[in-house]
Order: sequence, then structure tokens, then C-alpha cells
Amino acid sequence: MKKIKIAIIGVGKMGKIRYNAMLRHGGYAIVSLCDTNIENLKGYTEKTYTDWKECIGSSDVDAVCVCTFNAFIPDIVCYALERGIHVFSEKPPGRNLSDTLRMKDACGKGTAILKFGFNHRYHNSIIEAKALIDSGLIGEVVCARGVYGKAGSPGFGQEWRNDASLSGGGILLDQGIHMLDLLCYFIGDFTSIKSTVNHLVWKEMNTEDSAFAILETEKGQVASLHSSAVQWKHKFDLDLICTNGYIALNGILTATQSYGEERMTYYRKDLAAKTGRLGKPLEHTLCFDSDESWDLEMREFYDVVVDGKELKQGTIEQAVNVMGLIEKIYQIGELEMEQ
Ligand SMILES: NC(=O)c1ccc[n+]([C@@H]2O[C@H](COP(=O)([O-])OP(=O)(O)OC[C@H]3O[C@@H](n4cnc5c(N)ncnc54)[C@H](O)[C@@H]3O)[C@@H](O)[C@H]2O)c1
Repeated sequence: MKKIKIAIIGVGKMGKIRYNAMLRHGGYAIVSLCDTNIENLKGYTEKTYTDWKECIGSSDVDAVCVCTFNAFIPDIVCYALERGIHVFSEKPPGRNLSDTLRMKDACGKGTAILKFGFNHRYHNSIIEAKALIDSGLIGEVVCARGVYGKAGSPGFGQEWRNDASLSGGGILLDQGIHMLDLLCYFIGDFTSIKSTVNHLVWKEMNTEDSAFAILETEKGQVASLHSSAVQWKHKFDLDLICTNGYIALNGILTATQSYGEERMTYYRKDLAAKTGRLGKPLEHTLCFDSDESWDLEMREFYDVVVDGKELKQGTIEQAVNVMGLIEKIYQIGELEMEQ
């Protein structure tokens, strides 16, 4: 099996998750690791660095995996792409749309692959829901409601995620981006947006702890999004209402299991016509007990880089689209934030 020689920049929570997924895949040779915090580099046998430029410059790598704070993503991504080095980068794709467009520009100038880690697209419930919608069995999605929320920890306001200069935004950019990306995945391009973005509890933070948005496509499909850091019991709920049925996605598997078990419930109108149970329908529920999203993402990156397959998820175009929507949600929601 051909191995992708790769360096991981940023060896915190996500860097470690990516490291382990690469080992499980078997097609990656992890050459070097870089983190500004040397504590995070202890115990590894790979060559380690604290300066990402030195790491990329001194390692003979085919690819880099970027898992740093958001603010450093564009510089590292562009530097690598300009040298013909493939990039797998964590979401969000930079702090704002202009960061993302910078990366798009660098990507367009060469042939190196750029993939962003929108891992929710690879959760089993999402894969099944997408297949069901694409089958046409329950018709077209006409509207959707997405709620994704977590409880901010006691030190939430002090986390780098809520320092706009390092993150670029609050809960919407950190977690809500996944739900927004899924709404785009299931529905398409949103052209009209209404939003409100707030500091409901953490008044002293310069990033939001809540964002509501109502999005509409040219065709009139409507979606609502609520992204929250004051959802004291963790919640992931996505309802997809279709012309001939619906899908309810409840819970999402994470390491902490705090979002509940991952379930996909669906119903098609034809069944109600047979049973006469209109409004109180018989549903099918699928429960998923494993999260392979990290593995599937590393597999897609490998297949694209090594076998020349088409990149389908986490493309720069998808990244630009979702970051454009986030920028508008912030603008319309009138959040004042100094980046
Ligand atoms: N796909 C997902 O579901 C998901 C989940 C969590 C985080 N993320 C993303 O992953 C990235 C990292 O988040 P995390 O949760 O691992 O955070 P973290 O704080 O656990 O890890 C970040 C690491 O990057 C290091 N770092 C920061 N700046 C650096 C630089 N310039 N050079 C080298 N190392 C640097 C830090 O020291 C830290 O060890 C973020 O962009 C975040 O949005 C994605």
C-alpha cells in the first residue's frame, strides 16, 4: 500500500484524533508533529517541532494535516499548497470568508488537494439520510429545522474558541458550522437569510453564545438553524420535512456520548395511506452504535491523493459557501466582534 508521508500541525484534541485515524487506516506514514505547546508533543516517536514553517520545510512530506487554532489555518494551508503539498485541514476553513477565499486562491494556482474536515457528513445517520433523500422515496426536502447545542464549560469565556482573534467567531463558527453545512448538503444553496446572534449568558465574551438563522433557497425551501452554547443538555436534532415523508435525526455519537445515541427515524406518506394512521404514523427508526466519521474522512483523503478519485466532501467550494453564509448570519445578526 502506498503511504502518504504526512506532518500533523497542532497536536491537541483533534490532532490526536487525526493521528489515530491515520494509524488505523494504514496508508499514512506520519513523519513529523508540530505544536507550539511542547507538552502536547511528549511521548511521540515522530520528529517534533514547535514552529510549523520549520516542520513543513524540514520534513519530506506529501501532505500536512492542520489542527491548530483557526487563526493559523490559512497561513499554514496556503504555505503548503504553494509548495505542492496536499492539505487536510480542520474546520472551520479560517476565521472568516476572506480567509477561505485566500485558501481558494492558493488552491486554484496548483494541483495539490485541499480537503476540510466536515466530519458530520460521514456520520452513519447522515449517510443513510442522504441516501434516502437521493433515492427519491420520500420526495424533495421542502423545509428543515436544525438545532445543535452544547453547554459552555465554566471557563468557556477564557477558551481560545471564544477569543475572536484566534477563532474568528463563537459557537456558530465552532459547532453550528456543522449543522449549517448539513443543511446545505441536504437542501442546496441558500440565497436569503434572516438571523439574530446573541450573548445570552456570557455577556463579557466578544463571541456569541447563540445564533438563530432562517435560510431560504431560490426555490423556496426553508431551513431554521439554532446554534447554542447555552443548551445545558447537549442536543443534536435535525428534521428534514419532505414532500412525501420526513426524516428526524436525533443525537450524534461523540467521544463523550453526551449528545445521546445516534438515531434516524423516517416515515413515508404511502405507509400512512395504507394504515390510515395519518398524523400518528408508523415510523422506521435506525440506531447507530459507532462513529466511523474520522476513519471515512481519512479514507477519502487517501483515495483522492493516491488514487486520483474525485473529492466529494470538504471541498473548498463547500467551504466558501458555508463561510459566506456564516458571514451573512453575523452581519444580519449585527454581532459586533473584533477579530
Ligand atoms: N471536526 C470536528 O468536529 C472538530 C472538533 C473539534 C475541533 N475542531 C477543529 O480542530 C482545530 C483544533 O481544535 P482542538 O479541539 O484540537 O483544539 P486544541 O486546543 O485541543 O488543540 C489545538 C492545538 O493546536 C496547537 N497550536 C495552536 N497554534 C499553533 C501553531 N501556530 N502551530 C502549531 N500548533 C499550534 C495548540 O497548542 C493545541 O495543542 C480547530 O480548528 C477546531 O475548530 C474540529
